[in-house]
Amino acid sequence: MDKILVHGGRRLRGNVKISGSKNSALPILAATLLTKEPCTISRATQAPYDIVRKMRASVCILGPLLGREHEATVSLPGGCVIGDRPIDLHLRGFEALGAAVKVSGGNVKVLAPKLTGATVSLRSTFGSTVLGTGNVMMAAVLADGTTVIDGAAEEPEVVDLANFLIAMGAKIEGAGTRTITIEGVKELHGAEHEVIPDRIEAGTFLVAGAISGDEVTLHRVNPEHLQAVISPLREAGFHIESNGNKISIAPGTKRRPLKLDTVPYPGFPTDMQAQMCALLANTDGISVVSEHVFPNRFMHIAELKRMGANIDLQGATAVITGVPQLSGAPVMASDLRASAALVLAGLQADGITEVNRVYHIDRGYDSIDEKLNELGAEIERVKA
Ligand code: EPZ
Repeated sequence: MDKILVHGGRRLRGNVKISGSKNSALPILAATLLTKEPCTISRATQAPYDIVRKMRASVCILGPLLGREHEATVSLPGGCVIGDRPIDLHLRGFEALGAAVKVSGGNVKVLAPKLTGATVSLRSTFGSTVLGTGNVMMAAVLADGTTVIDGAAEEPEVVDLANFLIAMGAKIEGAGTRTITIEGVKELHGAEHEVIPDRIEAGTFLVAGAISGDEVTLHRVNPEHLQAVISPLREAGFHIESNGNKISIAPGTKRRPLKLDTVPYPGFPTDMQAQMCALLANTDGISVVSEHVFPNRFMHIAELKRMGANIDLQGATAVITGVPQLSGAPVMASDLRASAALVLAGLQADGITEVNRVYHIDRGYDSIDEKLNELGAEIERVKA
């Protein structure tokens, strides 16, 4: 397995182009199943089959296959290192549209001779479900009649999927709010679509700039999608300016600790929690980071502590006492964002940080090491 070596202490400066959103491209690629016609998706990195086969988000083919073929079978996603990844809300939505759900042999099969529009609630103790909202939307676009999704996820990736479906001829209103209304149509046609910029990749590079940047400018971003990341970084003492599809970050005079709570969009995103822990690990003072979406999403804490971080994990809350500097060490990548956090921590650590199992990072970042090196980092990729 490849690993990457991060040589700490290099200052970052310059420009980086943000790629298309992974979490938008995935359901949109699935949505192309809804039409027999060709679709062109740009700015998406095609997830190779051998990763999609293993990627739990492949659950999002259930909705379009149910919508078009009236049946679908997919392996249950099971859990992953950030916690249990249930799909009960997805299945509740399909049942409301008239599907029968059968779980056997680790697979879930959904079958609906006829799909009829209905009112579906996707509210959960964790807020809502992003892929569940997309899945139900994709099943409903070809159903007979009107579907109302109550308690829908409001993430920009849900809006992007809805816009792609509308371009294919679907009738959808309210995407980006808690209530989405879908008028079923007979069939969908091909469409062209450019996915939105990846707001989490953008947030990750803002944190890279905060950790070790003089001035870093991100291009091809949508600042509107990043407000919940920009405001805590400003509160932490960094200068951030946005202009059109560009955002720049530069150091301020004094860094301040933070209290952060991860919540569904438009709140502070769980996908940025690990990266912010890397920044707060050497921010003077005591920071408190609470995880309300994936309470177990703290695989990065033990690894940051191997680098000298002073973090006390109390249930779903990390209490971080900033230390002057982390020290480079061999660390283990575990999930996508924890791995990115370890690379970010290595940027300012003393010495070399060896991040193992780097395939976790490659699943969600388009050449993060190359992009950081273009900004002035010194990161080597070692083929195992
Ligand atoms: C999407 O996952 C993202 N992945 C995740 O990003 C992101 O962390 C998550 O949304 C939350 O923003 C993709 O879009 C491919 P959820 P998703 O269903 O849709 C519970 C990354 O790092 N839940 O919104 O699978 C669930 O356990 C990845 O890019 C149920 O209880 O997440 C969690 O606590 C990681 N029942 C909460 O809801 C369900 O049926 C949010 O999950 C579904 C979810």
